[in-house]
Amino acid sequence: MLSDEERLQSRAVREGDYVLLYIDNRRKRLVKIREGAVINSDKGVVKHDDIIGREWGEPVTLSTGAKAYILKPTFYDLLMNLPKRVTQVIYPKDIALMIMLSGIGYGSKVLEGGVGTGFLTAALAYSVGPEGHVYCYEIRKEFADVAKRNLKLLGLSDRVTIKIGDVRKDVTETGLDAAFLDIPDPWNALNSLSETLKPSAPVLIFVPTVNQVIKVVRALEEHKIGVDIHIYESMLREYQPKSEALRPHTLMIGHTGYIVFFRLVKRS
Ligand SMILES: C[S@@+](CC[C@H](N)C(=O)[O-])C[C@H]1O[C@@H](n2cnc3c(N)ncnc32)[C@H](O)[C@@H]1O
Repeated sequence: MLSDEERLQSRAVREGDYVLLYIDNRRKRLVKIREGAVINSDKGVVKHDDIIGREWGEPVTLSTGAKAYILKPTFYDLLMNLPKRVTQVIYPKDIALMIMLSGIGYGSKVLEGGVGTGFLTAALAYSVGPEGHVYCYEIRKEFADVAKRNLKLLGLSDRVTIKIGDVRKDVTETGLDAAFLDIPDPWNALNSLSETLKPSAPVLIFVPTVNQVIKVVRALEEHKIGVDIHIYESMLREYQPKSEALRPHTLMIGHTGYIVFFRLVKRS
């Protein structure tokens, strides 16, 4: 059996590798390579055996003569192709901004409340690296189980502890570097953060409605535990890559949610 490091370094596709078969921007198939299997598409068929031993980035010809490319999946490709979503997930455009604002990185220890499908969890685990850790609280065991399966598929289980519990009152960790909350009433979790996080730690909250943002801001004004408060909404517009007709796509994601950022301070 190949180690993760061997797979990472390998220039050629081997049995057991994940491959992103790229036909065009609308036809990208993430598959785990198995001898004897085939990949079907409306543009034709290709055998896994014809991909094994080929180098990353090489073209391969489908049964119809159409061309596809063998791409090594990125973390983004793997995340977006997770087989099971059981809750609303935070979109990459929001996750990216939240992680950048939080300042976390290699070796960070992080709190997450509301795991759901585990999209944000996976991105946090990826960001903190093997020396870091993500401590998560989720009230519904069935969601935690799905998130655990997703993390296992991504090879990130070792960096994450998921506890079945209420992030508003059950957190036992101390000295963490940042907190991420994606629960319906994050304002009720703010008071306990002082015991969990290092002083001045960044806190990131994701909520889908303005009504919830108002309640978070009101709680911060009341409890006086946050400064440097910012509220963001990120909009991502993709353009069609045609040199003769360069313009945005007709459709875009209109709304995901709001990000509230603040730095935890000692009560004044
Ligand atoms: C929208 S989902 C989270 C999705 C997740 N951020 C993702 O990107 O996949 C919200 C989750 O918070 C959980 N939840 C709600 N209140 C909670 C609480 N007080 N403590 C812990 N988890 C909670 C719900 O069960 C649900 O799974």
